[in-house]
Amino acid sequence: MRDVAVIGAGCTTFGEKWDTSFRNLFVEAGALALEDAGLAGEQIDALYVGNMSAGRFIEQEHIGALIADYAGLASHHVPATRVEAACASGGLSFRQAVIAVASGLEDIVVAAGVEKMTDVGTGASVDALAGAADREWEGFAGATFPGLYAMIARDYMHRYPLTREQLALVAVKNHYNGARNPIAQFQQEISLETVLKSSLVADPLRLFDCSPITDGAAAVVVAPLDRAREFTDTPIRVLASAQASDTITLHDRRDISTLDATVAAGQRAFRMAGLSPSDIDMVEVHDCFTIAEICAIEDLGFCRKGEAGRITEEGVTALNGDLPVNTSGGLKACGHPVGATGIKQVYEITQQLRGEAGRRQITGAQIGMTHNVGGTGATVAVHILGV
Ligand code: COA
Repeated sequence: MRDVAVIGAGCTTFGEKWDTSFRNLFVEAGALALEDAGLAGEQIDALYVGNMSAGRFIEQEHIGALIADYAGLASHHVPATRVEAACASGGLSFRQAVIAVASGLEDIVVAAGVEKMTDVGTGASVDALAGAADREWEGFAGATFPGLYAMIARDYMHRYPLTREQLALVAVKNHYNGARNPIAQFQQEISLETVLKSSLVADPLRLFDCSPITDGAAAVVVAPLDRAREFTDTPIRVLASAQASDTITLHDRRDISTLDATVAAGQRAFRMAGLSPSDIDMVEVHDCFTIAEICAIEDLGFCRKGEAGRITEEGVTALNGDLPVNTSGGLKACGHPVGATGIKQVYEITQQLRGEAGRRQITGAQIGMTHNVGGTGATVAVHILGV
């Protein structure tokens, strides 16, 4: 297996983007990534694109071909493949690109993710997102994603010491970070009171406990490590790529407050990299809801079960803490265009490791991790990147 590096990265701004289309979002992110790597389109050997639900959101399928065409690559007949794993589509797209390069089959591969969610109303969006759960056992019974994560939050708060205020502090922190990220959907800091007084979505989760509905795209270019310096002075090494799955329904799980697929993917990633949680300088976790960040930092092994609320309150996960979590603003404040999120996480860690993260830069960052979840934890992708 060959060592793999990220040699270029690009991302659109995230938000409600009425003035652009799905295809233009992708082309913008792809062009930024290629420009960053100093590459021309015809040098690409393969393209993977993470997308959850273009069929529901924009009534378009056959996304791989569409993207290759509008990226100007149709006449080069570049192999272009859509990767779908709900909100983990981006993370799996990155993993497919890494596998293609590591195997020796391809050299220069683009891993991208794109979602245009706001062309339909909130009801239609929430219903499309519910397709990431089990439609027969959960969706038809009325379960939405906020509803499912609310059940996780209730169960967690019943069994472990997590206060409503500690949960809200996850959102306060992530909005603070988002306010320092030029691509973030929400650019304003918020107070604890803002979260606690926001409207109830699914008890105990309130509006500011939820990630928003977002348009956006991100792309990165990967290459064999031994060719990376042809394109960049700062290649970012892929130290581990891991994936795990679990039951699609929440009620079939051994324990609904522990995402066993996160535990498995995290352990596999640490084993592959020969590292442990204390080696990680910062981590982008899948905080689709505030409770998801609490579970993630425990399930990845950064603290024991039941401690994440306390360490959040103590500032351990803040920008200036010992383990900065979601320096981009996370899904909560940076936004969550579902197919693009996993790639945006890699984009953020790449910026941090290159020292290009501006007002949210972690001084001396050497090793970062990404954690991307599909559904309530039926698919998880974890990557470790380093300089
Ligand atoms: N956090 C903070 N503010 C939010 C927000 C969020 N998650 N979602 C919307 N807003 C803001 C909007 O910017 C808008 O502000 P404005 O009035 O100042 O312009 C206001 O709240 C109303 O926005 P609107 O678009 O009408 O919200 P909504 O009620 O249609 O949607 C949710 C709110 C929570 C239902 C929606 O964001 C949601 O479903 N989020 C979860 C997405 C999800 O499940 N993703 C997959 C996870 S696995």
